Amino acid sequence: MMQYGFGLIGCGRIAKNHLKAITSLENARLEAVCDIDEARLTEAKEQYGCRTYVDYREMLKDPDIKIVTICTPSGLHAKMAIDAMEAGKHVLVEKPMAMSLQEAAAMIAAAEKTGVKLGVVHQNRFNKAIVKLRRALEEGQFGKLTHGALTVRWHRDKNYYDQAPWRGTWAQDGGCLMNQSIHNIDLLQWMMGPVESVFAYTATNARDIEGEDAAVAVLKFKNGAFATVEASTTIYPRNLEETLHIFGTTGTAGIGGVAVNKIESWRFEGVDEATVLADQDKEPPNVYGFGHYDTIKDFIDAVDSGRQPAVPGEEGRKALEIILAIYHSVKYREEVKLPLAEKFTIGVGL
Ligand SMILES: NC(=O)c1ccc[n+]([C@@H]2O[C@H](COP(=O)([O-])OP(=O)(O)OC[C@H]3O[C@@H](n4cnc5c(N)ncnc54)[C@H](O)[C@@H]3O)[C@@H](O)[C@H]2O)c1
Repeated sequence: MMQYGFGLIGCGRIAKNHLKAITSLENARLEAVCDIDEARLTEAKEQYGCRTYVDYREMLKDPDIKIVTICTPSGLHAKMAIDAMEAGKHVLVEKPMAMSLQEAAAMIAAAEKTGVKLGVVHQNRFNKAIVKLRRALEEGQFGKLTHGALTVRWHRDKNYYDQAPWRGTWAQDGGCLMNQSIHNIDLLQWMMGPVESVFAYTATNARDIEGEDAAVAVLKFKNGAFATVEASTTIYPRNLEETLHIFGTTGTAGIGGVAVNKIESWRFEGVDEATVLADQDKEPPNVYGFGHYDTIKDFIDAVDSGRQPAVPGEEGRKALEIILAIYHSVKYREEVKLPLAEKFTIGVGL
């Protein structure tokens, strides 16, 4: 069995999920971590006994590192990913993969040029309920898709946004769509297919940030179906739910819980809904879910076998494009058609 050396950039909140997965997978070995914050490096070194770097470009020279995972503020993803790929490393990057379509295109081009794998973390694709939903769709159990709906009704208070200066900024993050809701938008488009157009309203109602803390949008799909998106980080007093509903002429499914992990409705001809609802695992302890383990396992397998990872760059780009289209619908007060015209590919700043 081949064991792959990992280097991680950005030892903050989500890095813990990466480190837990890397250090528990048999064919992964944590070689090094990088952060500009020395205290975080010391903590990682004490816990994992790995090498540490303050400058990621130095870490990229380390020949024992074959796979780099990027857990830094979103605005840094594209440059770090491209530098890592050009140094010959396979790259698994946190969502959103980039802040603009130009950046995403440059990352995808770098992967093609260098021949390494580029994967984007959308760990909810591995939620058991979501895997079951996707299988039902592939088997045609929904008949003709009619519509869908997603909600992200979460709570992120002032303390959360004050934790790091990049949070909620246009240059480094975006708002509740680009940060918190991108996973569910990824799932929606994965289930319902390519988006034809979007129309949206967003607002910054309650938090002192540049990005939006509330959004509603309508998505029209190329197959004639449509969907509503309702997202916010202002729900009082704590996270309420994250749901995805898919409706077809012969099927109804609702996946909910705090982070689309729990089947709430499952109505198909000949299926006993009560049994399906009873026969499921417990919800994860937080909104990040259990999926990072499966995401990293899948990525190693992709590198090992030469196949594409579950969410390659091209696939990660799709949710990014939908959110940029939503932002531009808000800016221009109009329905925005996909693919986005060049004038819209300017990043998230409005
Ligand atoms: N998949 C998920 O569910 C999920 C959940 C949370 C965050 N994320 C994504 O992960 C990324 C990080 O989010 P977070 O909440 O962990 O942020 P964080 O602020 O907690 O951590 C970011 C870390 O990056 C470090 N950093 C900043 N600039 C650096 C540089 N130049 N070189 C090396 N390190 C640098 C910071 O010091 C910090 O330790 C974001 O893109 C976010 O959208 C994904």
